[in-house]
Amino acid sequence: MKPKYYITSPIYYVNDVPHIGHAYTSLACDVLARWKRLDGFDVFFLTGTDEHGQKVEKAAALAGLDPQAFTDRVSPAFLEMARIMGISHDDFIRTTEQRHKIATTRLWHRLEDAGEIYLGGYEGWYAVRDEAFYDESELTIGPDGTRIGPSGAPVEWVVEPSWFFRLSAWQDRLLEFYEKNPDFIAPVSRRNEVLSFVRGGLKDLSISRTSFKWGIPVPGQPAHVMYVWVDALFNYVSATGWPDPDAPRANFWPADLHMVGKDILRFHAVYWPALLMAAGLEPPHRVFAHGWWTIEGEKMSKSLGNVIAPADLVGAFGLDPVRYFLLREVPFGNDGDFSRRAVVSRMNGELANDLGNLAQRSLSLVARNTGGRLPPRGAPTEEDLTMLAAAEALPGLLRGLFDRQAFHEALEEVWKVVRAANGYVDHQAPWALRKTDPVRMAAVLRVLADVLRSVATVLQPVMPDSMGKMLDQLGVPEEARDIAALARPLPAGIPLPPPQGIFPRHNDEPAS
Ligand code: MSP
Repeated sequence: MKPKYYITSPIYYVNDVPHIGHAYTSLACDVLARWKRLDGFDVFFLTGTDEHGQKVEKAAALAGLDPQAFTDRVSPAFLEMARIMGISHDDFIRTTEQRHKIATTRLWHRLEDAGEIYLGGYEGWYAVRDEAFYDESELTIGPDGTRIGPSGAPVEWVVEPSWFFRLSAWQDRLLEFYEKNPDFIAPVSRRNEVLSFVRGGLKDLSISRTSFKWGIPVPGQPAHVMYVWVDALFNYVSATGWPDPDAPRANFWPADLHMVGKDILRFHAVYWPALLMAAGLEPPHRVFAHGWWTIEGEKMSKSLGNVIAPADLVGAFGLDPVRYFLLREVPFGNDGDFSRRAVVSRMNGELANDLGNLAQRSLSLVARNTGGRLPPRGAPTEEDLTMLAAAEALPGLLRGLFDRQAFHEALEEVWKVVRAANGYVDHQAPWALRKTDPVRMAAVLRVLADVLRSVATVLQPVMPDSMGKMLDQLGVPEEARDIAALARPLPAGIPLPPPQGIFPRHNDEPAS
């Protein structure tokens, strides 16, 4: 039986149009999902839309639609984003679906039966934009004298009856849980932030609202709808078919990884494990908080008009270069800046020059000099062995790095091999061996073909389409494209299709 791997993206608020920030979170999940499938795992990759709450209710009112009609209309934009970005999710959940409402209602009963929730009254600050409650101490005074939350969102004073989750009682158990599971929150800097937040003391969490209607009703309490974050977080469990133990995906819980942006870490790393443990469910294995993108040095915002739509980006540069760029440019976990200049420079330097040229020149030499057939392996020299060993080490290295979500380091390791292979061709000069030592020439070309196969195989999760083409050109059959297949050399003599450039240079050269 294959080992299981369950990975989730956040579910996206439907009041916004999909942009590069959403695409980034989904892309990171996609690369891991594809990697794990390639590495022999049974993967469940979940994404979807977060459709309840005051923010969505307001957006629907503004659009002149009832909330259900509004969400039906806008949720597909996120499915479309997934298509444009080449996202290979296995399920797309909407929180307005029946399966989710049933599961979440069940969760509520569990919390109630366990004595983990109680009816009280909430009086405090709330930011609709973040759908978050803030403590007075977290607020600052904005330019117009009003109070704003840590994210810059305006807050309002709310007084209403509310159900509460006894979060305060979970402080020690959470700290113990973090201690026992040192890899639960990543990166480490974020882990430290969460730890100090929890050490600072936790208040009970308001988990129902009465001042609006758009949410999952609290069972037996028609005036209350569930707090949208409780509803939203539970999507990760409801998508497994819980509480049905026979549901096809029942055994995927707990999730292996929740990928989130840094802005929503507190919900995932504090409230979520506490709620799960309170309901007698296992917490997820890991939460990774990535950084935020700015655009050409500026915060992305509708008012600045600099919001980048994934379709425009992919239209301008092509899907695989965009996927490569987003994961290569910034150490995953840090904030980063998106600039056209940086995309073009990576496209032309690393994709067209380093990898594209390596493939093109190696495969054209094969086409011209070995009758377009994969040459046999020769007696290896010291240099051949070093080159091959570097390529063969990639799967093991990448496995470790992807398990730490260190995409940029993984790509750097692959590029070390690509650069070494370019050095190897220059040094071996197979074109000059053609007349003097054709057997050695064939052996050199075979080393190159084998190195390219390893490189293209491990890069498939990042650039599925281009690496698929490269594997076609290397004569690698579909069933020999996973990580395990790298241990089985291809037979000599298989015919290779005529080589074609895979990464064109982008002619919009950065101005110097
Ligand atoms: N609905 C909640 C998540 C609920 S999960 C149970 C939500 N949705 S969101 O649509 O606002 O954001 C989804 C993701 O997009 C978050 O992980 C957020 O960090 C990410 N990004 C939004 N803008 C971003 C950037 N400018 N840069 C990088 N990621 C950003 O929060």
